Amino acid sequence: MNIIAPSILSADFSRLGEDVRTVADAGAAYIHMDVMDGEFVPNLSFGIPVIGSLRACTDAVFDVHMMVREPVRFVKEIKAAGADILCVHQEACLHLDHTVGRIRELGMKAAVALNPATPVEVLTDILPQLDMVLIMSVNPGFGGQKLIPYTLEKVRRLRKMIDARGLAVDIEVDGGVNLDNVASVLDAGANVIVAGSAVFGGDAAANTRRFLEILKERER
Ligand code: DX5
Ligand code: ZN
Repeated sequence: MNIIAPSILSADFSRLGEDVRTVADAGAAYIHMDVMDGEFVPNLSFGIPVIGSLRACTDAVFDVHMMVREPVRFVKEIKAAGADILCVHQEACLHLDHTVGRIRELGMKAAVALNPATPVEVLTDILPQLDMVLIMSVNPGFGGQKLIPYTLEKVRRLRKMIDARGLAVDIEVDGGVNLDNVASVLDAGANVIVAGSAVFGGDAAANTRRFLEILKERER
């Protein structure tokens, strides 16, 4: 199923709960939450208490994207805050298998994110352990950047790898996705679409609905 995951990094932080309710009521199944440590990426965002406070606002799936070095240190606390999917960067985990194992052990879905320059083949062996792979289509750290075209080639290769092995792994694309290019992202083989500025940069409910229309038209 195709899913829209609005990224609250571009929401109004002074009324975060309302913004989350708005997109969830408009039909967003996932809420994408970007946690940054100022070390793995050159920016800070928000952390565990914010995720915990938002849990009371909605039943939507919390898709937490950790842009944090060695996120295994926080897995338990993030689960307690209410995360459903925990996404860690391959580049940020020395022992990726162990980190993924901890995420699953705690009852969350496990996702691994890849920076633009990291080839998808790095996940060949661990793929069956994953629920989702996140292909970064910008360099992580900031909303509002332009999608890097070659990352869609990675989505195509990953889709082939997954389908050829009969796996049920979702492909999420994050960064620079908007209403004009989302069709090409879906056509490349993604089925979970993150959008920050393209949702919260205007009427968030209307933008969410418009994304959902396109997602529905392109259901695989
Ligand atoms: C970037 C974050 C993204 C960001 C996307 O590091 O991972 O989730 O919020 O923002 P847009 O959709 O504006 O590129
Ligand atoms: Zn993200």
